[in-house]
Amino acid sequence: MLKKYFYITTPIYYASANLHIGHAYCETIADTLARYERLKGNDVFFLTGSDEHGEKIAKNAQANNMSPQDFVDKIYLNFIQNWKEMGISFDKFIRTSDPKHVECVQKVFHKLVEQGDIYQGNYEGWYCTSCESFWTESQVGENHTCPDCGRQVHKEAQKAYFLNCKKYVPQLLEFYKSHPDFVPGGKLNEMLNTFVLPGLEDLCITRQDVKWGIPCLEDPDQVIYVWIDALLNYISALGYLSNDDSLFNKYWSDQATIVQFAGREINRFHSIYWPILLMALNLRLPDTIYIHGLLLTRSGVKLSKSLGNAPSPLPLIERYSLDALRYYMVREIVIGEDGTFTPKQFIERINSDLVNNYGNLLNRTLNMVKKYFNSVVPNYKPIDSENINKLYSDMFKLLDEYQNNMDKYNLTKGASCCMSILDLGNKFIEVQAPWILAKDPNKKDELEQSMYALEEVLRISSIILQPFLVTKAKLALEQLNVPSSLQTYSSIKEIGKLSGIKNNPPQILFPRLDVEIETKYLTELIDGKNN
Ligand code: MSP
Repeated sequence: MLKKYFYITTPIYYASANLHIGHAYCETIADTLARYERLKGNDVFFLTGSDEHGEKIAKNAQANNMSPQDFVDKIYLNFIQNWKEMGISFDKFIRTSDPKHVECVQKVFHKLVEQGDIYQGNYEGWYCTSCESFWTESQVGENHTCPDCGRQVHKEAQKAYFLNCKKYVPQLLEFYKSHPDFVPGGKLNEMLNTFVLPGLEDLCITRQDVKWGIPCLEDPDQVIYVWIDALLNYISALGYLSNDDSLFNKYWSDQATIVQFAGREINRFHSIYWPILLMALNLRLPDTIYIHGLLLTRSGVKLSKSLGNAPSPLPLIERYSLDALRYYMVREIVIGEDGTFTPKQFIERINSDLVNNYGNLLNRTLNMVKKYFNSVVPNYKPIDSENINKLYSDMFKLLDEYQNNMDKYNLTKGASCCMSILDLGNKFIEVQAPWILAKDPNKKDELEQSMYALEEVLRISSIILQPFLVTKAKLALEQLNVPSSLQTYSSIKEIGKLSGIKNNPPQILFPRLDVEIETKYLTELIDGKNN
C-alpha cells in the first residue's frame, strides 16, 4: 500500500479555563482518526495547541493576579497533562505565544498589507467580548445579542485594519462548488445562507484597545485580532515563512491529505475566513473541514466551563478507564451531530459493547481453546462448513464497511462495524455450540476450525479497534499472543497464520459495571455541575 501523508488538526483551545469533556470529545475524534491513519501505515502529523491571546485571557490572568504570559505558561502545561491522560497522540502542541508563531503571523500580516488585501479603515459595529467577535446590525438583531453565545454585545468604534474578504467571495464560491466534500454533512449551507450569500463583509482584523495580542508592526496602536492569530497556527506550526519550512512543504503540500476538525460554533471561522486567508496567501486549501457537533447538557445547553456545567474527563477515566470514555464518545455521540453525556447510556454502552461483546468473546474463546486444545491454536485448514465460511465472508464484508466509513471520517459507524464483527463471533459460538462438537469425535475438524476462526475474529477486531481502544485492544492481542507481524493493518486479511500459537492466560478486559450504582455515581458527578 502506498504511504500517504496526513495532516490532522484540532482547533487550539482558549487558554482561559480547565478542559472539560466537551473539549475532550473534540480531541478524541481527531486523535481516533490520527491513530486510524497511522494504523493503515500512513505518515501522520497531528497538531493541537493552545490559543493564548485576547481580552478574555488577559482578564482571567488579572483575576488570578498573574501576568498574561505567566498565566498561559501555567495553563498550557495543564493542557498537555490533560491530553496525555486522554491518550491524545499529538505530534506537535503549538502555542500562539510562541515567538515563532508570532513572527509568522506578523509576516503574513505584512505580506497581505503589501499585496493590498489588508487595508486601514474605521470600524464601527457590535462586539462580543466573550467570543471576541464583531457582528453586524442584522446579526445581533433587536436584542443586541451575540449570535454565537447569546450574550449581550456592545458598540465599538475605532481605527482598524480590514481583510478584503469581498474580493475572494467569487473564488470561494467556486471552490465550494468544485469541492462538495470540503465541509461535509451539509454543514456549509448555513454558513453560505447566513454569511456569504447575503454579502460577506470585510473582516476587521486588528484591535486598538486590546494589549494582550500579537503587535501589529504596521501600527503600534493595534494588535492582530485573535482569530486571525489563531487560525494561522495551522501553518505556523509547520514552519510556514520560517527558516525551516520542511514540515510545511511536506504536510501542507498537494501530496498530503489535510483534515481539520472544528466544533460547530466555530464553523464560520473555519469554513469562510480560513479559506479566504489561504487564498490570499496563494496556498492550497484543506481537503476537509470536519465540523463536529457539541456535547450538551440534558437540558440542551452547550457544556462549557464558563457556564460551570461541564465535568472534567479525568474522574471518568480514573473510574471507568480511558478506553471506556473514549469509546463512549465516539460510538454513542453520532459524529457530526450534537449529543448528551447520559449516565445510564454510558454505563449500558460500556457493559453491552465492551464487557459483553468484546470482553466476553475474548474470555470465552481463550477458555475454550484452553479447555479443548491446551491453549494452543489448532492448525488452520479450509473445511466445508457453511457456518465457518459464512463467518469469514461476513467478517470481510464488515471489514470493508469499516474502512469505507473510517475513510469518510464516519468514526461512529466505524466503531459500530467493529462491534458487528464481535457480534458475529458471539452468535457463531451459540450456533456452533463447541461444547457439543467436543463430545463428537467426528466433529473434530469442525471444532478445531471453529476455534481457529474465533481467534481470527478476535485478532482482526482487536486490530481495527485500536484507534478507539487505545490500551485494551493491544492487551487483547497480547492475551491472544498474536505476533507483531500479524497485528498490522496490511496483514488483516491474511487468514491462516495463527496455527500453533499458544494463547496467554485470559484476563478480564473490562469489569462489568453495576448499572444502578454507577448511574447514581455519574448522575451525582454530572448534576453537581450540570443544571
Ligand atoms: N480558540 C478557539 C479555536 C481557535 S482554532 C483556530 C476556540 N477554543 S475553545 O477552547 O473554545 O474550543 C476548542 C474546541 O472545543 C472547539 O472545536 C469547540 O467546538 C470544542 N468544544 C468546546 N465545547 C464543546 C462542547 N461542549 N462539545 C464539543 N466540543 C466542544 O474555539
